[in-house]
Amino acid sequence: MFARLFNRGKEDKEKYNQLPIPEDANWSFLGADMHSHFVPGIDDGAKTIEGSIVLLRAMADMGFKTVVTTPHIMLDYYPNNREIIEKGLEKLHTAVKENNIELTVRAAAEYYIDESFVKLIDTVPLLTVHKNEVLVEFSMLFEPPMLAETLFKMQGAGYRPILAHPERYGFFHHNFERYRDMKDRGCLLQLNLLSLTGYYGKNVKMAAEMLLEKGMYDYCGSDMHHDKHAAALKTMTQTPLYTLLVNYPFLNSKLCF
Ligand SMILES: [Fe+2]
Repeated sequence: MFARLFNRGKEDKEKYNQLPIPEDANWSFLGADMHSHFVPGIDDGAKTIEGSIVLLRAMADMGFKTVVTTPHIMLDYYPNNREIIEKGLEKLHTAVKENNIELTVRAAAEYYIDESFVKLIDTVPLLTVHKNEVLVEFSMLFEPPMLAETLFKMQGAGYRPILAHPERYGFFHHNFERYRDMKDRGCLLQLNLLSLTGYYGKNVKMAAEMLLEKGMYDYCGSDMHHDKHAAALKTMTQTPLYTLLVNYPFLNSKLCF
């Protein structure tokens, strides 16, 4: 059913646009979100704890039960580490408690693949989204020369990479086999939900549709940084995309505990 709905034939596209949207549509079917930037003041996400509270409340209101927030770890821009992130997580725990927000909040990280990350794999235990699964990203401008070796090294160290928003890497758009190659190398793929709305541009949207149609995504995430993302995610529940995603076997719900 899923692949059929996403075929780009005119007739199928019309069917997909006519799917009924439930009035009370929200994201509760996912249970958990696993990519976001809620820890205040340590990356390009929430700037203050008040900002974090607004975003966490929005997540709870949209039906999420659990969020695994993932601050950037990127040596040149966001030199975060486990200690900084865990301290930030404590602030979030206090905030959800004091503000009666019904949300389980855990933390991992979004690691930027570069030479400093390669060293980190051997040096410290990495923060994991779930069991041995580690969220990674890399430059949007060029494929890191040591990508294959890094993924191999992670797996040698017992980790399973989750590649954040594969649809956003423009240099893969004309070489779809690279996605298949990464799956074959044991990588899980994570869709940014807003990619499907065109939030990051037409080409990203098309790549996301293609990956979705081929059933290549494992997780999806909000990658929420600010309230514009929250508003766009809420609006998305009132579009035919929502009805389509409900039928996709994302793994997010296993993160609810
Ligand atoms: Fe992110």
